[in-house]
Amino acid sequence: MCGIIGYSGPRQAAPVLLDSLQRLEYRGYDSAGIAVLGEDGRPTTVAKSNLKVADLVRQFDAPGLPRGHTGIGHTRWATHGRPTVSNAHPHRDCTGRIHIIHNGIIENYRELRIELIAAGHEFTSDTDTEVVPHLIEQHYQGDLAAAVRSALQRIRGAYALVVISDDEPGRIVGARLNAPLVVGLGDDEVFVSSDITALIPYTKRVVVLGEGQLASLSPDGVVITNLAGADVEPRVITVTWEADQAQKNGFPHFMLKEIHEQPEALRSALRGRVDDGGFVDLPDIGLDDSRLRSLDQVTIVACGSAWIAGLVTKYAIERLARVRCDVEPASEFRYSDPLLDGQTLVVAFSQSGETADTLAAVREARRQGATVVAVTNVVGSALSMEADGVVYMQSGPEICVAATKTMLNQMACGILLALRLGQARGALGDDEHRRLTTALGEAPALIERMLNMEPQLAEMAQRYAHTRNAMYIGRGINFPVALEGALKLKEVSYIHAEGYAAGELKHGPIALLDPDVPVVAIATRSRTLAKMVSNIQEVSSRDAPVIALVTEGENPFDAGFVRDLVEVPLTDELISPLVNVVPLQLFAYHVAVERGCDVDQPRNLAKSVTVE
Ligand code: G6P
Repeated sequence: MCGIIGYSGPRQAAPVLLDSLQRLEYRGYDSAGIAVLGEDGRPTTVAKSNLKVADLVRQFDAPGLPRGHTGIGHTRWATHGRPTVSNAHPHRDCTGRIHIIHNGIIENYRELRIELIAAGHEFTSDTDTEVVPHLIEQHYQGDLAAAVRSALQRIRGAYALVVISDDEPGRIVGARLNAPLVVGLGDDEVFVSSDITALIPYTKRVVVLGEGQLASLSPDGVVITNLAGADVEPRVITVTWEADQAQKNGFPHFMLKEIHEQPEALRSALRGRVDDGGFVDLPDIGLDDSRLRSLDQVTIVACGSAWIAGLVTKYAIERLARVRCDVEPASEFRYSDPLLDGQTLVVAFSQSGETADTLAAVREARRQGATVVAVTNVVGSALSMEADGVVYMQSGPEICVAATKTMLNQMACGILLALRLGQARGALGDDEHRRLTTALGEAPALIERMLNMEPQLAEMAQRYAHTRNAMYIGRGINFPVALEGALKLKEVSYIHAEGYAAGELKHGPIALLDPDVPVVAIATRSRTLAKMVSNIQEVSSRDAPVIALVTEGENPFDAGFVRDLVEVPLTDELISPLVNVVPLQLFAYHVAVERGCDVDQPRNLAKSVTVE
């Protein structure tokens, strides 16, 4: 969702801001803007666009970039107020001297707005954000950080916000509550951003702001306080991601690059997690055998593709560890009176570690005494800091809004967790454990072979690109893979697609089938393959064209029975989601390209959903 960047230092701010906004585009947005403090008597420049960042950049073609060493930039994902130029950030106070950008939702903005208007303040947008600069204006007495702190006492809701003022050149004030904000430390320069990815070209030294913390930054240093003004020791971490990992490196889209990075991403997720004896070791979960044995329930919370990875994990945990495992969309969990106690392990899957609903679910779980393990990709994310233990996905940065390599690694981390639980609880024999870790270790090479089939999937995509509806079916641990295949197609190609448990098809969705509705069926080797084949017969009898994923050399269908056959390398059923998801990603990608869609930044979607 909204992307944030701020800069103060010896460089010209405008190029840093515009370059960073381009890096933040992947978060999903619909308008953008910057403010650069004027220097040497020049006025502050504010520029906005209700189009893409490229349009904002074009606005400077004739006048040239504004000159100044301190500035802020924002990409807005509209919540309150349409994506217009007047609603785009930065927003300002009545004097035009205080400029602010914000990610989150100010829940009590209506009453504050009425109060501020009654006090004579003039508003120029429909946003919730605009109350903040006016509140700061009311409190400003020569100390921007103090004024921001006072203004925040009046605000309810979620925010990551960054403020600059013409009266304090060189200073940036940032604060966060339930929305991400990180500070980058350079040589005599400082940055602030919603996102580590935007900072990596400039610095690897990052201070992760905690909840309810405020940072007052200038090239001379950083002071962090809580909202009451008490000093807080900065937590500096060094980021290991490289700038070129966030480049397309010759691929036409980040999605395709990230699909192709999957063998390496999976190797990275497994690295250091299987010991010489072939047993899983996850030291960072912080739970020893006796604690893992004492658990009587696992509850997984997550959103989007992470929730689907959670469903795959449920199958693995229940099969390998013989402990009950529920999976809840995080947005539902919190409001569903969840049954948790000290013997519950809550596993939160989140690539970003900043998804608002997932964080809220984790806080509710902790409040009820559950132990929380995070599966996340971002070191220093709110989730990683709030959980009792962490399994890092080790995928490297993912830029395409639609998750691919991180979804793969979420499934892999879920299977690792299931193996670890199974071992600790004595539910999994050593031979079976070793057999499965060996199979996991072989999966990257199988994915490589799958990737070699891209030309076949691209050709198929051309033939199906103009379909209006599609159905994906699977059984057992591949039912969630069907959900993911449908989700990928919806997200990037805007084709209506549904994922269904194959046996459920005849309880409703079969009514939708006709020769114009292709059905993608996962029919690889499994304990339920015979049932799956029957379900595909039912589909075929309704004249729906079938695209079947089958195990190499094990085609269970008569010649010509299915329209398209995709052969998938053999692996254990439990590991098969890691391989089966790949052709579905490639198919969705090529359909989207064929339809001319904005693959990396699909309409209305955001990479990281930081509001509830
Ligand atoms: C958004 C993204 C999805 C992602 C979901 C959860 O909807 O577009 O790709 O799966 O958020 O994100 P998380 O960072 O919590 O994994």
